[in-house]
Amino acid sequence: MTVNILINPFFLLNLMKISNDLEDLTNKIKNCKLCSLYKTRKNVVPGIYGSNNELCFIGEAPGYNEDKEGYPFVGKSGKLLDAMLREIGLERKEVSILNVVKCRPVTEDGKNRIPSQTEINICSNTWLKHQLEYLQPKLIVTLGSVALKYFFPKAKVTKEVGLFKTTNEGFTVFSTFHPAYILRNNSEFMRETYRNHFKQIYFYIKSNNVLKKPPIDKALSSTNVKQSRLDNFFS
Ligand code: URA
Repeated sequence: MTVNILINPFFLLNLMKISNDLEDLTNKIKNCKLCSLYKTRKNVVPGIYGSNNELCFIGEAPGYNEDKEGYPFVGKSGKLLDAMLREIGLERKEVSILNVVKCRPVTEDGKNRIPSQTEINICSNTWLKHQLEYLQPKLIVTLGSVALKYFFPKAKVTKEVGLFKTTNEGFTVFSTFHPAYILRNNSEFMRETYRNHFKQIYFYIKSNNVLKKPPIDKALSSTNVKQSRLDNFFS
């Protein structure tokens, strides 16, 4: 086997294709050394698979906190994502949360950076693609430009946010902003736009029976209370 891996770098990929097990795939992700990010990572962040995994959120790549803990969206962006999920009656443990790139891209002086196109290609075509094949989510929500471009390489996030589209593989994708973008561009207008995007997600999952356990009906009913709760998050 060692010989095979050395001789044929695609041997691992072939092995993976015939594997039927998401857990097995996740373990392979945890041991990945296909690009140089493994040299600087503390933990690989394969993602989490929710109890209601028909709904899948996809971000860009782990940052400092995610690298430290091994879980996606556990820093400030993650807190905002959690708040938005609560707005539509969902909890983090119910949904799947993945990233395009599974290890933290870091600058020489230790800061987060955007993953390179090579890192994106290697990681997503090897791991994200197969995770989605196993999960078969009924709705994918892309958070920010890197995730949107994985499905639609020519898309511009500013033009395409708030839209539902279908991929060549037949996945339904809704694109919205990355929570970090909302945190950086915090204004009443952006908060309202983000809230509306999550309402679109809520109405889609309700009317298309996306989730085995749908969010409670009253999730969006007391808008004023919900609004002030989200505004509190930013204050
Ligand atoms: N930003 C991302 O895109 N993913 C994470 O997991 C955390 C922050």
